[in-house]
Amino acid sequence: MQQSNKTALKYNRIYNFSAGPAIMLEPVLEEIRDEMMNYRGSGMCVMEMSHRSRVCQQIIDEAEHDLRDLMNIPDNYKVLFIQGGATLQFAMIPMNLMKNGVACYVETGAWSRKAIAEARKYGDVYVAAPGKDRGFTWQTLPNTKGYTLVSNQSSSFLAKPCKVSDYGMIYAGVQKNTSPAGMVVVIIREDLIRDDFDPRVPVYMSYKTHADNGSMYNTPNCWAIYVCGKVFKYLKSIGGLEAMEKINIDKAKILYNFLDSSRMFKGTVEKECRLLMNVPFAIGNDELDAKAVSGTAAKKQPQGCPFIYQTERVDDL
Ligand SMILES: Cc1ncc(COP(=O)(O)O)c(C=O)c1O
Repeated sequence: MQQSNKTALKYNRIYNFSAGPAIMLEPVLEEIRDEMMNYRGSGMCVMEMSHRSRVCQQIIDEAEHDLRDLMNIPDNYKVLFIQGGATLQFAMIPMNLMKNGVACYVETGAWSRKAIAEARKYGDVYVAAPGKDRGFTWQTLPNTKGYTLVSNQSSSFLAKPCKVSDYGMIYAGVQKNTSPAGMVVVIIREDLIRDDFDPRVPVYMSYKTHADNGSMYNTPNCWAIYVCGKVFKYLKSIGGLEAMEKINIDKAKILYNFLDSSRMFKGTVEKECRLLMNVPFAIGNDELDAKAVSGTAAKKQPQGCPFIYQTERVDDL
């Protein structure tokens, strides 16, 4: 996300390269600040509001509406705001979708390994592309020959246009690109929402529960939905996901160009499999890498250094 030099100076903000929770849009933070004590004449902060109130319902409806606009989500897909982050989806997906007890997963790094381990509790899991490579992406989708494709877009959510109808389900933990942590946005084709599964599946972990109750089976994370809504509106105002992709390509170019010319740091992923949003890099010396990871968190940008990296280990991507 962007940070203007003017605002950075005004608030003494640092360049925060954390993968997530990550930097938030400053215009959004400023808007939230302005609405903190009294949201649009309601006399209270969104955090204090009943989720059953008209005002809150409006916030949720608008957020869904704007996301549908931004991603061009077809009418036969539900948009659900569910708590538990992306991690809860590692279990919800096999519980709800592994109809015949078989699934194929693509292993791209630590998160997919966690999803695979969870899915193995529910059936047979075939793993494509297992290996030591970490933090890579494909530029084109696999041909699933009619099988439902489920995509974890936690890293790339809203970073570029996405053809929703290519997928049965898309999910994204919101803390990287849109909102505070703890919530996931699920976009799921309606025919995949079922209830003919193991009755021991907890009620909260059924997509049908969330779909039937407009994401309000229990108290939703209204605050995160409110912040998401602000980001969705901002993205629309700058020209949508095409515009965002251009910004992201330009930003990534700066970082990759620096890495490609650096004598100290190296990108760890083959050029054609590089991610737009996560840029894994290392010094290539275990001792120095460990020092860099432990020593950089939340430091100010020193003079002459093009950026600070508040890192995660490459293994964590
Ligand atoms: C690709 C991916 N999947 C899942 C997660 C876990 O998300 P959460 O912390 O919301 O459970 C992350 C978090 O960074 C992630 O990057």
